[in-house]
Amino acid sequence: MNSYDSELVRSILVKAKYALVPSEDEADVVLLNTCAIREHAHQKVYNRVHEIHQKRRSGHKDTTSQGHKPLIGILGCMATNLRTELLGNRRLDIDFIAGPDSYKRLPALIRECLGDEGRGTRDERRKIFDVTLSEFETYSDVYPRRERGVNAWLAVMRGCNNFCTFCVVPYTRGRERSRSVENVVEETRQLAADGFKQVTLLGQNVNSYHCEDRDFADLLEAVSGVEGIERVRFTSPHPKDFPDKLLEVVARNPKVCKHIHLPLQSGSNRILGLMDRTYTREEFTALADKIRRLIPGVALSTDVIVGFCTETDAEFEETLAVLRAVNFDSAFTFKYSERKGTIAGRKFKDDVPEAIKTERIVRLNELQKEISLKKNRAHIGKTHEILLENKGSKHSPEVLYGRADGNHLVTLDGGGWALGESVKVRVIDASPNVLKGVAIS
Ligand code: 5AD
Ligand code: SF4
Repeated sequence: MNSYDSELVRSILVKAKYALVPSEDEADVVLLNTCAIREHAHQKVYNRVHEIHQKRRSGHKDTTSQGHKPLIGILGCMATNLRTELLGNRRLDIDFIAGPDSYKRLPALIRECLGDEGRGTRDERRKIFDVTLSEFETYSDVYPRRERGVNAWLAVMRGCNNFCTFCVVPYTRGRERSRSVENVVEETRQLAADGFKQVTLLGQNVNSYHCEDRDFADLLEAVSGVEGIERVRFTSPHPKDFPDKLLEVVARNPKVCKHIHLPLQSGSNRILGLMDRTYTREEFTALADKIRRLIPGVALSTDVIVGFCTETDAEFEETLAVLRAVNFDSAFTFKYSERKGTIAGRKFKDDVPEAIKTERIVRLNELQKEISLKKNRAHIGKTHEILLENKGSKHSPEVLYGRADGNHLVTLDGGGWALGESVKVRVIDASPNVLKGVAIS
């Protein structure tokens, strides 16, 4: 979502006659788009701000603004979440902060920072902020300035109403609001005209999308009707919003990829209750079974948090058991990190020692690696249509990277194909994260 938001910001600034420069060393204004969801994002931001000033002070070759102090703005969730801390920190040399719903005000904020006569001296500048959350802002009238490519991100809704107790998103991004189906389809048409082959619909809670009487299933159908778009993906959904209608669209519509991200978070019913996830382990596994029944061959991925407040060894074992039972193709795993202002942050004690969290995540990753390897090996000998998305790595500049329908990363040696092409491959080898393919067409 932040990558997408940065594209929105670029578009807003270019429209206001700002020019993008290739490197931050040349920039008069540097914007850092931040995430507050986990770990110590603020330390990273402090270090980056320091590094930018440091580099400028020491003079960087190629720079046109050598010695010139750039304006630094902090954007994104951290801006909302840590406003007081950011503004109050005298050693943090930043000029303004803008939350996720304030990006249209950026040109005005920058002008305010500069003052009437243009660039002010450091002392004259005030720290300026706008972190107001909106119930309406969807940026539906801004066409993001994207890099040319194969996949385009497209936010169809913003915000979240779920208030999972560990999560900061409802506080930093506000309440749910959706764009109209017509507006999203219009942008998808433009994407197809700009050469994109795949669109990934984004939302903090994407499948709770609704606008008037249209739901997420309707939106998926409408978007996949756009000529020129070959694949439609979506992320990130909540298990509570998977009506049969949606599963049937995924199953039936050839352009909608057969991959569903189904965030589990924990396999213990007590912990799921504390997290306020609104489902039990049994309901979750029943949903996974139903998805597999209705969408044959579907790939499933998940998110898991270890070491949530009061999680016992036995409860962690229950999470491992669900992973074994569901057999996800892949998993994103996280150690619980307390977020300021969340329900868990206010009401529960972050009492699982760091060493235990580490032990648990290592075990979880080992198990998932085993499962992913087994699942990936089962693809050996099968054919997949892959959409080529990237080229070259440090070790092999000629290798092509594509994604199978189920989102598995597939490598393909040799040239002759362009990015954006679909190639039929036979899988000849597999590791936990990658399949290796040879072209058969
Ligand atoms: N600590 C650890 N992981 C978190 N996530 C969200 N909030 C936290 C937190 N406070 C994880 C969840 C979510 C993913 C996007 O990030 O697993 O699904
Ligand atoms: Fe956070 Fe997702 Fe829960 Fe919303 S549904 S509160 S974004 S974890």
